[in-house]
Amino acid sequence: MKSRFALLLSLSLAAVVHAEEETAAETWTAKCKSCHGGDGKGQTQMGKKEAIDDLSLPSWQSAHDDAAIRQVIAEGSPKNKKMKAYKDKLSDKQLDALVAYVRTLKKG
Ligand code: HEC
Repeated sequence: MKSRFALLLSLSLAAVVHAEEETAAETWTAKCKSCHGGDGKGQTQMGKKEAIDDLSLPSWQSAHDDAAIRQVIAEGSPKNKKMKAYKDKLSDKQLDALVAYVRTLKKG
């Protein structure tokens, strides 16, 4: 009985971790992709119009640390109002997950 419980517990923990990974990708698709594109290159109508940086570029990735990325997502961009503040719409966890997700967009 005891080991069954342990198994169940570890299965549900795995499910939680998995769900969080999915959430960042889902959040990106739901809230960010329309401007930044699924690949983060900004090759969308809005992205081209506003000349949004290509977030997949290694040069962009190395020029921005996690704190700076988090800042712009949480507070919006001071340079362009189209990039809104998301701190009231997303939890701290979701913001952190999005920073990590932005890192996965890097292409060599
Ligand atoms: C309505 C269009 C729009 C949406 C939706 C949007 N962004 Fe942006 N985003 C922009 C624009 C425009 C900029 C460029 C701001 C600037 O030049 O400072 C930007 C900039 C950024 C930057 C910084 C880029 C840089 O070069 O400094 C990050 C990171 C970012 N967005 C992440 C996100 C995330 C994460 C989401 C979803 C939660 C999101 N954006 C949703 C339009 C958008």
